[in-house]
Amino acid sequence: MEADLDTTVSNAPKPRLRGDYAGIGPDYATEQRWDAYSAEAHALWRRLYARQMKLVPRYACDAYLRSLGALDVAQGIPRFDDVSTALYAATGWRLVAVPGLIPDLVFFEHLANRRFPVTCWLRRPEEFDYIVEPDVFHDFFGHVPLLFDPVYADYMQAYGKGGVKAARLDALTFLARLYWYTVEFGLMRTPQGLRVYGAGILSSGGEIVYAIESPQPRRIVFDLERLLRTEYRIDRFQDTYFVIGDFAQLIADTAPDFTALYERVRTLPVFAPDAAAPRDALLPAEAS
Ligand code: PHE
Ligand code: CO
Repeated sequence: MEADLDTTVSNAPKPRLRGDYAGIGPDYATEQRWDAYSAEAHALWRRLYARQMKLVPRYACDAYLRSLGALDVAQGIPRFDDVSTALYAATGWRLVAVPGLIPDLVFFEHLANRRFPVTCWLRRPEEFDYIVEPDVFHDFFGHVPLLFDPVYADYMQAYGKGGVKAARLDALTFLARLYWYTVEFGLMRTPQGLRVYGAGILSSGGEIVYAIESPQPRRIVFDLERLLRTEYRIDRFQDTYFVIGDFAQLIADTAPDFTALYERVRTLPVFAPDAAAPRDALLPAEAS
């Protein structure tokens, strides 16, 4: 899930949002209506799931794999309420069904209160390989397992609180980049090698291999200021990834008050998605 932050470099006109926004509450929560999913939808979920399960054991970080193994979602689109109960017991988070993208502040308020918004609808079969808007497969398969990790779960809440504050400081462009390059497209350097923790990669059949093994993208050792200055694209594989050590380091690096940092970054030039900066510490691709 992400907020509807339009801070990308793509000039494409914004498509009308998919999803049924009738009957939502002020927090955009809706009913999942699990019984309304068709047999075809569950079958498509199983195909998406089976494809990713061939990939994640090789490419995903351990915390993700541990949690995914404990979730029983191979057979079809899961019931959010069941998972929510288990998730609440593990880390105090809950899932909230939403029709699709939601306004920034609504999204941040959910995260700040340890609620994760999950889109109800599933992509069409012809979108099997790539989808720009998050659907239930991306939101669930990509995001939900890591919410069972206590340290990651705390980072997500801190991000939500940071979002409320960034909105006040007119700094959402910068904070959106942090979400993009960590929660959605983050890589992690582990003793076993480079691994994926970003949901946008974990739910993608093509990008998960590319992110770890392609010589094409830049893999920059996490550098908060560099990251906040780096634009991103939502419509193709990423040109740049930022690599953390572990979630504790991510929390520590993002814990300081961003107020002064936002002011400084505002005065500095941005980096295009594929730009090189002299001070970048780069990591090589993994051997395939
Ligand atoms: N430390 C940030 C601030 O003061 C809040 C934040 C924490 C933002 C974690 C993102 C992630 O604004
Ligand atoms: Co997402």
